[in-house]
Amino acid sequence: MPHGLSLIERYAALLPVGPRTPRLTLGEGGTPLVRSGWLERELGIDEVWLKCEGANPTGSFKDRGMVIAVAKAVEEGSRAVLCASTGNTAASAAAYAARAGLPCTVILPAGHVALGKLVQAIAFGARIVAVRGAFDAALTVVRELGASGEATLVNSVNPYRIEGQKTAAFEICEALGDAPDALFIPVGNAGNITAYWRGFTQAPAAGLAKKRPRMFGFQAEGAAPLVKGAPVDDPQTVATAIRIGNPASWDSAIRARDESKGAIEAVSDAQIMDAYQSLARRDGVFVEPASAASVAGLRARARAGGLTGLRRVVCVLTGNGLKDPDSARALAGPLAEVDATAEAVRRVLATS
Ligand code: F0G
Repeated sequence: MPHGLSLIERYAALLPVGPRTPRLTLGEGGTPLVRSGWLERELGIDEVWLKCEGANPTGSFKDRGMVIAVAKAVEEGSRAVLCASTGNTAASAAAYAARAGLPCTVILPAGHVALGKLVQAIAFGARIVAVRGAFDAALTVVRELGASGEATLVNSVNPYRIEGQKTAAFEICEALGDAPDALFIPVGNAGNITAYWRGFTQAPAAGLAKKRPRMFGFQAEGAAPLVKGAPVDDPQTVATAIRIGNPASWDSAIRARDESKGAIEAVSDAQIMDAYQSLARRDGVFVEPASAASVAGLRARARAGGLTGLRRVVCVLTGNGLKDPDSARALAGPLAEVDATAEAVRRVLATS
């Protein structure tokens, strides 16, 4: 969907930007909305659409919020940016900070950041520190560092992040001519479900939609504080992006759920990895494991009879599969290596 305009220019009237806000851009937004035939057949739903946020410049939905947060930081005279991250926020902050000429510091949970995200932060020149603990501990650290005023905090507790991320809801309404009946979305720190709900609630007044969707959020079973109703001390999941035990946007996620008559549910790592592999092999859409939680959740609800009355649904696929090469590599064993002859190759293909 080539649009020619930056996200800030395209949605200026609906964003907290003014003439003094720099028109920062890396070409974020305008991501593909792809229809999934096999999911429609498997689930018996008329329309299943995939919002492919991995097509953003740094490979995740974070770019929509980060471009606004960093542009506003520049507008407000900030000299540096700072974030805690399971990886994608770090990659995005580092890229937009580089573009804006600001130094960036990222604090990561040691040992639990996918390789693709780490190498992005390194390539974009961020200062990187790994802390012992999960994302929640890293967020506590940056809140304290940010309070000194030396650097602008660009986690989704920064209100401009949520504002930028709501534009994905606008794009879905524009592409479909209305909001869908339901949105399925992974939930970690709960900023994105908050942002989509804000976008969908503003879309009718902006002339982009007539109705609002039901919001269905999905956490990983071992990191599902919103489902349990209490923080999780030691969150665990293969979906490292959503390995979060105490989401910062807890209350607004619950509001999105309740106001939309939706639900926040848990999916197992096995369900996540099954959806992950199926999206790649049946749709040609390669996402990172956390992103597949939305599709895993859609399938789980379908099996439980929880899709009654839903004709058209959208699954948000938050990040690109290349972010996490180790997860994809683990799907296959060692590669067959033979002499470079057709005969040798044929022999291997015949036995595999
Ligand atoms: N999917 C991906 C690929 C993510 O990176 C994240 C969050 C989420 C889903 C969940 O979104 O936190 O708004 O509920 N990643 C953050 C990070 C925590 O640091 O990159 P959320």
